[in-house]
Amino acid sequence: MHAILIESFGGPDQLHLGEWPKPHPGPHEILVKVEATALNRADILQREGKYPPPEGESPILGLEMAGVVESTGQGVTKWKPGDAVCGLLAGGGYAEYAVIHQDVALPVPEGLSAIEAAAIPEVFLTAFQALRWLAGLQEGERVLIHAGASGVGTAAIQLARVMGAHPIVTASAPKHPICIELGAVHAIDYKNQDFEADVMEYTHQHGVDVVVDFIGGPYFQRNLNVLATEGRLVMLAFLGDVRAEKLNLGPILRKRLQILGSTLRARSLDYKIRLSQDLYRYGWPLFAQGKLRPVIDTVYDWREAPKAHRYMEADRNQGKVVLKVG
Ligand SMILES: NC(=O)c1ccc[n+]([C@@H]2O[C@H](COP(=O)([O-])OP(=O)(O)OC[C@H]3O[C@@H](n4cnc5c(N)ncnc54)[C@H](OP(=O)(O)O)[C@@H]3O)[C@@H](O)[C@H]2O)c1
Repeated sequence: MHAILIESFGGPDQLHLGEWPKPHPGPHEILVKVEATALNRADILQREGKYPPPEGESPILGLEMAGVVESTGQGVTKWKPGDAVCGLLAGGGYAEYAVIHQDVALPVPEGLSAIEAAAIPEVFLTAFQALRWLAGLQEGERVLIHAGASGVGTAAIQLARVMGAHPIVTASAPKHPICIELGAVHAIDYKNQDFEADVMEYTHQHGVDVVVDFIGGPYFQRNLNVLATEGRLVMLAFLGDVRAEKLNLGPILRKRLQILGSTLRARSLDYKIRLSQDLYRYGWPLFAQGKLRPVIDTVYDWREAPKAHRYMEADRNQGKVVLKVG
């Protein structure tokens, strides 16, 4: 089959279309003819050699896909050839064919195309896991979502809204309109304003109940400071720095804070099945009703993968960058 391969670890130009063995579905897996995949920030790290795939997983980039079932393993009961599916992968999305466990695969939501469905799994599962499973976000609570216009951020804003919470975001100023359109109640231009002061002023010194963070070290102290009593900080990435300096940890005890961290890719198959099925039950009716939607910035032909990577690396995307496969 054809796949986007990495010549050697490095910049976007290391990506090229090549030949790779077609995968075979295991007993509980389906083989999917991929129609679209989408970029995630992790793809850039993996391309640079800084984020190897979990052991035994495909070394091909791509953490999600949408397409059509080509064939099924002997133990598969849920799907048949021709079904339109999408789902989370531990790797292997930038390819003509991918295998996925039958219970991680989900139907393409009613009324959506493969391009749209490919933009859902990674970011909606990550945001759903962060808000619902980890932070236990409640109706009426305030949540600060950093990188609000990122793929994960745009999913988190929408999920927070349908959960009845009030999302506040940080994002560079030109990206504020999309965040507000998706349901953010307040957007902070973190490049020109101190988000701590802004959040405290906006919330009348109350602070927020949940913070979803991708920046890490440079934000850690201020994240602790803006959390209200019994607040929860969910840490998902270290786009800023993995290290934090000279911290005052007092707020953790004083406000009884919880600090939670997670990476989705390394989770067990059982966890991914439970999470996928929970999002399916919760979110698929909302996609069908238009209350949730994949936010797509740009669609590239997969031969333009280097261009797509450069675009994401320049922080230009608002929502997802999708690759049309084949
Ligand atoms: N732990 C997990 O399970 C998990 C799962 C999925 C993704 N993630 C992580 O979540 C983050 C978002 O992923 P994504 O694919 O949604 O990203 P994305 O669409 O590429 O968006 C990233 C955005 O973050 C903003 N940003 C703020 N500070 C930044 C900094 N110091 N360096 C670079 N960008 C900065 C930029 O927007 P502005 O213009 O607004 O600054 C940038 O466009 C990534 O770090 C990714 O690795 C974690």
